[in-house]
Amino acid sequence: MRLRYLGHSGIQLRDGEHEVVVDPFITNNGKTPVGLEELEPEAIVLSHAHGDHYGDTAALAERSGATVVSSAEIAGYVGQRGMKGHGMNIGGHHAFAFGRVGFTPAWHSSSFPDGTYGGMPMGILLDMGGLRIYHAGDTALFSDMRLIGRKGLDLALVPIGDNFTMGPDDALEAVKLLAPKRVIPVHYNTFPVIEQDANAFKARVEQETDAECLVLQPGDGLEL
Ligand code: NI
Ligand code: MN
Repeated sequence: MRLRYLGHSGIQLRDGEHEVVVDPFITNNGKTPVGLEELEPEAIVLSHAHGDHYGDTAALAERSGATVVSSAEIAGYVGQRGMKGHGMNIGGHHAFAFGRVGFTPAWHSSSFPDGTYGGMPMGILLDMGGLRIYHAGDTALFSDMRLIGRKGLDLALVPIGDNFTMGPDDALEAVKLLAPKRVIPVHYNTFPVIEQDANAFKARVEQETDAECLVLQPGDGLEL
């Protein structure tokens, strides 16, 4: 399984046969070197509708024919715009050709850049390539993360930017509740208001938990 960090909250996952993209925010993200033409997903999984997560979904889906997997509201929105949507909701799971997607709670909000309501914001559980990955989406810390971690996580992606989501202190508590094998901090340094020292976060995670913390620069790839 190959993971590429697209910048902000975006990741690309490829297992040699399937390609999935989560929260692709690329063309309006001045901090990522990734080009849309490098992505060919069969599914775009979205945590919520905010512009820094919905991002390039329309352009990507149009080019690759990807199915947009997210809330029922987001699936309806993309369906009205000629894209394929697969609507789900919190607590639900579904097996796709590439793997199994489940959605978890996230404490945040969700509306499209045009103001349309996007349903509830969500975190994403993805079983793919023999690994279980949790992408927390945009969220505050919440104690039910312990239940999510009980499933046994190979990797957790947690926001650390603060202001819109949890910051490093709460993200460290989240890692303790989730107990993943590895953690990647996301949703920081894209804008001045969410600037954080990811290496300081890594040091705290590795001092206070058993997780390995991987600090990726936008565009970096990693074999999982
Ligand atoms: Ni958001
Ligand atoms: Mn966001």
